Amino acid sequence: MKIFAPCLTSIMLWAWGSLAAKDSPHSSAFRSKEVVPISVAREDRGAGWLYPEELTPMPQCIAQQDPSSWLKIMTESMENVCTRHFLFWCTRHEWRTQLNRLSLGFTPDVLADYLPYCNRSILAKAQLYNWMRSRGSRTWLVKAGDANDVQRLYPESLARGYAAAGVTHHAPPCLTESVSRASREQFHHVMASCSFTGTTQHTGRADRPWEYREDLGSMTALDFETVGYELTNGYIENGDYFDRDCFCKNFEFDHDTQYCGEPGDLEWTQKQLWINATCGPSLLPKNWIDSLRTLGRAYIPIKDWSWPACFADMPKNVTEHVHTCTVDACERDSSGYCNVKPAIDRARFCRGIQYDSCAGSCHIFEQRINYILWLHELCIHVPDWDGLPENWRRLTMPTTLDMTPWDWTIGRTSTVVNGTLTSDHCVSNEWKIGSIFIVHAVTYLAAVYIRRVQIRHVEHRLPWLSKGLSIAALQLGANYINTILVQQTPGNGDIPVVDLVLLWCSMPRLSWLLALLVGLLPQGTVNFSAAKSYLMAEVILQAASLYIMLPTIVYGLRHNFYFGGLKFANLPDSAKSMYFGALAWLAVFALAVFWVVQTIRRKYGVDEDQDYLPGAKDLKRTSSNLADNLDKLFAWLGNNLERHWMGKIDISGEQSPLIGENGGGKTTYGTLNGGTEFRRDSAKHYATAVVIMFLLWLSQCVFWMGFINLSSDEFCLPRLGLLTAVWTIASLVGTFIGAAI
Ligand SMILES: *[C@@H]1O[C@H](CO)[C@@H](O)[C@H](O)[C@H]1NC(C)=O
Ligand SMILES: *[C@@H]1O[C@H](CO)[C@@H](O)[C@H](O)[C@H]1NC(C)=O
Ligand SMILES: *[C@@H]1O[C@H](CO)[C@@H](O)[C@H](O)[C@H]1NC(C)=O
Ligand SMILES: *[C@@H]1O[C@H](CO)[C@@H](O)[C@H](O)[C@H]1NC(C)=O
Repeated sequence: MKIFAPCLTSIMLWAWGSLAAKDSPHSSAFRSKEVVPISVAREDRGAGWLYPEELTPMPQCIAQQDPSSWLKIMTESMENVCTRHFLFWCTRHEWRTQLNRLSLGFTPDVLADYLPYCNRSILAKAQLYNWMRSRGSRTWLVKAGDANDVQRLYPESLARGYAAAGVTHHAPPCLTESVSRASREQFHHVMASCSFTGTTQHTGRADRPWEYREDLGSMTALDFETVGYELTNGYIENGDYFDRDCFCKNFEFDHDTQYCGEPGDLEWTQKQLWINATCGPSLLPKNWIDSLRTLGRAYIPIKDWSWPACFADMPKNVTEHVHTCTVDACERDSSGYCNVKPAIDRARFCRGIQYDSCAGSCHIFEQRINYILWLHELCIHVPDWDGLPENWRRLTMPTTLDMTPWDWTIGRTSTVVNGTLTSDHCVSNEWKIGSIFIVHAVTYLAAVYIRRVQIRHVEHRLPWLSKGLSIAALQLGANYINTILVQQTPGNGDIPVVDLVLLWCSMPRLSWLLALLVGLLPQGTVNFSAAKSYLMAEVILQAASLYIMLPTIVYGLRHNFYFGGLKFANLPDSAKSMYFGALAWLAVFALAVFWVVQTIRRKYGVDEDQDYLPGAKDLKRTSSNLADNLDKLFAWLGNNLERHWMGKIDISGEQSPLIGENGGGKTTYGTLNGGTEFRRDSAKHYATAVVIMFLLWLSQCVFWMGFINLSSDEFCLPRLGLLTAVWTIASLVGTFIGAAI
């Protein structure tokens, strides 16, 4: 290969620069002028002379080498010829090219110096061949047959196709500034030897590609032609390209890590991708694909990054940690080249976070589930990462505590024995249910006993209102005592007293059965006073349970327990029972309030034509229809009761109906002595009250069965025997107060 003169190196670099500057289509000097094929049309064929500017411009691969031998041959073919004669004198001399001499000048020896470089790219070789063909008749360059492959080209002649010169922008500087391993040839230089344009372009004066400089005594080139893709008889859009095969064969990549970093580095990745996309994987070291820093699992694109729902509660050093983990990585474009994009280094981020890095809402119910799933998805495949607690799978489901609407528990009591902490076993669910059963059973037995005794002497000293209040107070008192008893056990000192007292108010009680047993005596006696006092106590205690039931329902709604669809379909049955028990309870409670209000309205004839908001009339009509239907139902029940009473009614105690009896009503006084009207009314109200109490009891049972099962570990109820005793006594005393005093 020739040693390049400095000026030619700069021509080459300039040519290269214009090749690389692909983005602005008008920047390329190659395209500064349209192609004007300089043919030999004006050639004076007969004489074999040609003006130098009529010669075809220099081929690209000659211009990219030292053209001095080339110019020498062209200079030697020049002759100062006389173009005008006057008699024997020549009146005008001009420098012209002697075509024959020119053809003979380009001997195989001369071409042999240029060919290795021109032979790199098949298009450059074809251009050179065409140039030579137009000058002479030889169909080979250096030796016979060496130009057979370029006599007729097709797009397929480019063995590996071509790529736009702009793809070198995807190569890292450590590659574009490197040299070929053995030949030490510059990357840009090899690239220039393989470059071509969409169509042939002139780089200088297209109208005057050659000039004879008399002062220098030499031909000079004012222009050269780039290699154009049209040599393949194909067409591509104009632009700067390079022949992949040419480049990949003539540039030897150096995989020494000192140039482009270690496997896994950004530049290393850019380089490998560039080589793969340009030359295919055969030139790459083994396992190159394993250490690429490309967007994907290991490097998460910024746009794909998301935080868990409890983001607001995450500590600042965790949320800001992500900035220190943001690095540049490669996004492969459609051709496989690297576009540098910011990404989050998954492994680095994960090493700085674990389950306990975030507290607060990140550890509570849905947010916790969301947080754990997020953490799991993000980090579980990071080697050596161990940020999830042992029981993380359990934490991804609602825990029993999550399903309990309040946040306090009654723990098992713990004691220190011989220096080690031991905790008592939790009372079993059977025992808890058993204790409710015991209270019920004792109450029932007491009622049966009273019923028998009452028949003989029924004497009431206390008014039913005081009795009702006393029964309620007794129950609340028992609850309070039990709360204190529980609170005194070690480890349970901070139980909220009011909450626990009122929670126990929502326990099922047998009031409906008491009212039925004690109120409806077999021998024609009706103990309204007892029934009313039980009812009174029940009203108070049920109203108190609102404190527990309402938050339960609100909590259930908020966490989608009722209409959750699939999300909480795997809620345990106990939780379903608890939440639907609470809902049923509220429905019955609302029904009871509605019924009381309707009854009072009817009794006192509340003005029906008050001004209501628009739409309220419909609502009113609906509700009064409902009330009528309910009325009919209860009237039917009442009738049955009345039949039971017929003839054996012996009104004892205070003779007034159960509901709306405040002494002012016309019905009450008008039927004081037990008229049919009064009996029918009383029977209806009595039946209604008993049914409502029964329904409330039923829903409380459902609620408590669910609650006990759900919270078997969270509500341990130490001293259950003692608690049961207190409740039993309270219930027993209450029953006696209602019926016998
Ligand atoms: C030209 O290139 C072809 C293949 O690219 C090669 O076989 C041939 O030997 C080369 N000729 C010269 C003279 O370098
Ligand atoms: C390497 O190049 C081949 C095509 O030459 C392509 O199919 C493959 O996806 C590339 N590999 C990478 C990692 O870009
Ligand atoms: C955040 O701060 C806590 C305590 O200051 C520390 O234990 C933890 O490692 C920090 N996390 C990160 C990711 O820096
Ligand atoms: C406590 O330790 C002593 C001796 O170490 C032993 O005799 C005793 O049984 C232990 N008590 C209990 C409750 O384990």
